[in-house]
Amino acid sequence: MASGRLAVVATAVLIGTIGATGCSASRGDSGATTAVADGSAPGDEVAVEQHQGRAGAAGIGDPDFPNDGNGGYDVGHYRLKIEYDPERKHLSGVTTVEAKATQNLSRFDLDLSGFTVGKVTVNGAAARFSRSGDELVVTPSRTIPDRSAFTVEVTYAGQPKPVRNSPNLGTYGFIPTSDGAFVTSEPNGARTWFPGNDHPADKARYDFEITVPEGVTALANGEQVGSPVTQGGKTTYTWRESHPMASYLATVTMGRFELREGKTASGIKNFAAVDPRYSGSLNELYNQSGRITEYWSKVFGPYPFSSTGGVIDDFPAGYALENQTKPMYGGFNPGDDVIAHELAHQWFGDSLSIRRWKDLWLNEGFATYAEWLWSEHKGNASAERIFRNRYAVDSGAAIWKYAPGRAKPDDLFNDSVYTRGAMTLHALRQRIGDPAFFKLLKTWNAEHRYGYVTTPEFVALAERISGKQLDGLFDAWLFTAKKPTTW
Ligand code: ARG
Ligand code: ZN
Repeated sequence: MASGRLAVVATAVLIGTIGATGCSASRGDSGATTAVADGSAPGDEVAVEQHQGRAGAAGIGDPDFPNDGNGGYDVGHYRLKIEYDPERKHLSGVTTVEAKATQNLSRFDLDLSGFTVGKVTVNGAAARFSRSGDELVVTPSRTIPDRSAFTVEVTYAGQPKPVRNSPNLGTYGFIPTSDGAFVTSEPNGARTWFPGNDHPADKARYDFEITVPEGVTALANGEQVGSPVTQGGKTTYTWRESHPMASYLATVTMGRFELREGKTASGIKNFAAVDPRYSGSLNELYNQSGRITEYWSKVFGPYPFSSTGGVIDDFPAGYALENQTKPMYGGFNPGDDVIAHELAHQWFGDSLSIRRWKDLWLNEGFATYAEWLWSEHKGNASAERIFRNRYAVDSGAAIWKYAPGRAKPDDLFNDSVYTRGAMTLHALRQRIGDPAFFKLLKTWNAEHRYGYVTTPEFVALAERISGKQLDGLFDAWLFTAKKPTTW
């Protein structure tokens, strides 16, 4: 889905020759090297070739994650057909990507890690493909003209290999468990289970068709379409997320689950699932998720999606993830503070997505501040008290050495991004007052619903709504590796 920044209009026009034979480009054509090497935006004149188009960049343009996502197209929809056998840990899939070219495209990449790719078609015709690291490089038989819609189908199979024990990110992606799989992909683990544009700057809608052995439950984002169909010892679950979603928020978690379904007080569908080990937590998860979704709808504005809920699985991830409509809790019984955090992400992170990972405080700082607001709402410690407490940390502490407004690629989820990010919002609240602050939170959501955001856009909106000049405050809190003294 167009993220604005990437939907650059091409400067050259493809005339008359579209689809003519002899237009197919091969890997290594002259245009490709430039586009891939400098990761330049589509539309740069230098590499445009009228007849051949040029290769889409290997990355979407996030300087900290140069190979994440891809250039040259914009995905609108994924259809993920997945069959998984927990016993053999074997996945076979057919992914259909509906996209739109943002340049004349002779070749493009999808992100995919592991698996054997059997077949790739573009608009129904067989396409050549090769593998290079985590890039699946696809060369369609004909150049795809700028701004035209195209469909890619990838057939693949193998044992999923999640990213394991990364020093800063732990284990993530498609993680096989004894009874199924635990699927949490932040920041770039979607490629461990389906080929796509694996970066939050290209959101899309999703349809899921998941086939598992009878007795296993398959969960995904959004809502179920029809009832599961069992045939020959296998059950197929169909799920649909009809709102734009970042790849890292997609899930196909499977296993033995106890379920509770219903509606929140205002009528939002609520779906909770727990591994039998967490049987005793099902009702609490269901009730708290419903209650908190209702409360955030009042504070942040209308709930952006068609259902809410949560999943507790028994894989000891050591973290939770705000999977769209179904936050995932990895091997622990979440308290209401964690549920409040993950559900706040449905607004901050899921409906509003960051265009580049260095802005991660827009997700984590906000979700952490939401925990403080929840505490205040419940009559426990006020946000002010929590802020004072965190601020009291010695000026030599690590949190003051890490500027949260520029999350570091090798330490994305540093405590500073969470806690100092939240402190930034509290400092802002103190400076502009409650009416402007809460109006800002609602306006921020309303203006960027289902879209993309950056830190400068937030600073600009805060200044517009408060009528105050705030660059000093944000500089001190977000961009300086030092304990702030004024706000
Ligand atoms: N966004 C998650 C949270 O709400 C953290 C995800 C961490 N990801 C990881 N691979 N460790 O806190
Ligand atoms: Zn978070």
